[in-house]
Amino acid sequence: MTKNVLVLPGDGIGPEIVTEAVKVLGTLNLDIEIDSALVGGSAVDATGNPLPEETLNKARSADAILLGAVGGPKWDGNPMESRPEKGLLGLRSELELFANFRPAILYPQLAEASTLKPEVVSGLDILIVRELTGGIYFGQPRGIRTLENGEREGYNTYVYSESEIRRIGRQAFEAAQKRGKRLCSVDKSNVLEVTVLWKEVMEELAKEYPDVELSHMLVDNAAMQLVRAPKQFDVVVTGNMFGDILSDAAAMLTGSIGMLPSASLDKDGKGMYEPCHGSAPDIAGQGKANPLATILSVAMMLRYSLDESAAADRIEAAVQKVLDQGLRTGDIMSEGCTLVSTEEMGDAVVAAL
Ligand code: NAI
Ligand code: MG
Repeated sequence: MTKNVLVLPGDGIGPEIVTEAVKVLGTLNLDIEIDSALVGGSAVDATGNPLPEETLNKARSADAILLGAVGGPKWDGNPMESRPEKGLLGLRSELELFANFRPAILYPQLAEASTLKPEVVSGLDILIVRELTGGIYFGQPRGIRTLENGEREGYNTYVYSESEIRRIGRQAFEAAQKRGKRLCSVDKSNVLEVTVLWKEVMEELAKEYPDVELSHMLVDNAAMQLVRAPKQFDVVVTGNMFGDILSDAAAMLTGSIGMLPSASLDKDGKGMYEPCHGSAPDIAGQGKANPLATILSVAMMLRYSLDESAAADRIEAAVQKVLDQGLRTGDIMSEGCTLVSTEEMGDAVVAAL
C-alpha cells in the first residue's frame, strides 16, 4: 500500500536540508508519495498563520511528517499567535505526538567532537524516549499566587495518569524490541508518588514484553551514569521533565548538533521526524548546512512509521560510508577531511546508497 509522507521544509536552512533528505528518500524506490505544505515563518508570510488549516489537514492524513526547522529573526517580534514556533507546538499537540525519541549515537569518524574520553563514548548508541505532552509541564493547577502573609508562591502540578504512562511505556518497550532489548525506566520513586505509579505501570507492561529486560534507575543516578558510563544503556524511558534534561545531556555526549535526528510519535506509531537543531539563520542560503541530521530523521521515519527497517539500515550505512570517505560539512569539519556543501553531502549519501 502506498504510504504518504508530508514534507514541511519550514524556514532558514529547513528547505535546503529537507531537499537533500527527500532526494535520499527518492533514491530508495519505495512505494511512498510525497506532498509538501507550509509551516512556521514561511506559512506566516503566506497566510498569516504558522499552522494553516490546509497544513494541519494534510498532517492528519499523512502516515509520517518530515520537518526541517522553523523560526528566524524575521518573525522574532511577532505576537505569540503568529510566531513560527506556534506551528510546531500546534502540530505536536493536535496530533498528540506524546513520544519523543532521541537517539544519541557517536559516529567513530567524529569521535574527537565529544567532550568525554574516547573509551567512555566510543561506540555509543543509546535512545532516550521522553514523554512529551504530559507531566509537570502541563499539569493543572499552576501559577504564582500571593499568600495571606503577602509572600508569593509559585506552584505546578506533577500528574500522570495510568493511561499516559502505559502509552509511552508501550512505545519504549517496542523500541527496545527493535534494538538491544534492554529498557531502563527512570523515575524518582523514593520521593514522588507519580513516579511510584510510573514504575508500577512499567512493571505491568514488562509482562507483555518478556523479550525486553526492564530495569529502573533514580533520575539523579541516571544523570550521573549517563556521564560516567553511557554505554551501559540501550533504551531509556522517562517523563517529560526528566526526559527534557537527560535527552539534552545524552545528545551532547556526541558533540555535534548537525548529526542528531529525532522522532515524535503518536499512539499508532505515526510521527513527525526532524533534526534536533533549529533553522540556523546564520548560515541559511549559503549551502553550508549539514543535511545528515535530517537524512537520519528519514531513517527513523522509515523504521518507526513506515515499516521499512531495511531501508532505514541502508540510509544509516550510507551515512557511515560518506563519513568514512572523509566528507564533512563545516560543523563537523576536521583536519585532513574534505569540506563539502549541503548539496554535495546529499549527493554523496545518494551515491553511497
Ligand atoms: P540552531 O540550532 O538553529 O543553531 C545553533 C548553531 O548551530 C548555529 O551556529 C547554526 O549555524 C548551527 N547549526 C544548526 N544546525 C546546523 C546544521 N544542520 N549544519 C550546520 N550547522 C548547524 O539554534 P538557534 O540559533 O538557537 O536558533 C535559530 C532559530 O531556530 C530560532 O528562530 C529558533 O527559535 C529556531 N529553532 C527551531 C527549532 C525547530 O524548528 N525544531 C529548534 C531550535 C531552534
Ligand atoms: Mg529542552
